[in-house]
Amino acid sequence: MALTITQIHPVFAGEVSGVDLTKPLSRDEAKMIDDGMNQYAVLVFRDQNISDEQQIAFTRNFGELEAKEKPGNIRKATESRLGAGISDLSNLTKDGKVISADDRQWFFKLGDRLWHSDSSYAVIPAKFSALSARAIPSWGGNTDFADMRAAYDALDDRTKAEVEDLICEHSLIFSRAAVGFTDLTPEEVANFKPVRQRLVRTHQATGRKSLFLSSHAGAIVGWTIPEARSYLRELTEHATQREFVYSHQWRQYDLVMWDNRATMHRAKRFDRNEVRDMRRTTLGGDRPTVEQAEAA
Ligand code: OGA
Ligand code: MN
Repeated sequence: MALTITQIHPVFAGEVSGVDLTKPLSRDEAKMIDDGMNQYAVLVFRDQNISDEQQIAFTRNFGELEAKEKPGNIRKATESRLGAGISDLSNLTKDGKVISADDRQWFFKLGDRLWHSDSSYAVIPAKFSALSARAIPSWGGNTDFADMRAAYDALDDRTKAEVEDLICEHSLIFSRAAVGFTDLTPEEVANFKPVRQRLVRTHQATGRKSLFLSSHAGAIVGWTIPEARSYLRELTEHATQREFVYSHQWRQYDLVMWDNRATMHRAKRFDRNEVRDMRRTTLGGDRPTVEQAEAA
């Protein structure tokens, strides 16, 4: 059974068939998937009933897992339902019960409903994320993806020149405030200190430029906050217009892998009383997008 990739959206996203992710990949398969990631930026693998260990092994074909000490966790590792190397994107507590509606863990997860790029709030943002659907709700819960290369290409020349050297500040504080969640501890506020990211990045493998937007972005260096926020919103609306968006409707045992350096994504609403068990492996990037400011 040979591995093939079929494009499933007019501008990006491919579906991969002829591969079994429970088994080690051959060198050729890994190369085809890596090339596919560069071309399509989002790859869908159907019917992959994998364990956490198999998911981790698959992901590690394409880089190093993201370091544990990134500032995104409000939950300690000991409170996690899952083992090391895999993030819990479900609506479940450690005991496997649906998280209550007023749990701050849930408020925190609701931030994923806004367009974002994983770990853009970290000095070195994520490379690939791979999300596996172990249990899905009966309605809703799609994940939407936007092609930030196509969005960049479609900017007019004047805007391209304007965004070229802009530097944004990203923090979980900004994205959580955007859903009205501001009840952070002093320790969290300290952990979520804004980091700098270029607004235009050039992909290491393809040389393509993309807009590096995310709901975590809340400021542009040298700009007033209102000017920055309204501009970031305008760019985000441009980048997430229908022609650049692929909406993934999950089936159980789908695995979707995306390149955070070339796309944004968001979770869509579902019935929060039903179980949605999604598990994510994440590869770390290998460099910051810009030198960081000196610590104040
Ligand atoms: C993620 C994420 C969206 C979803 O896994 O990083 O944002 O639909 N998930 O669960
Ligand atoms: Mn995400």
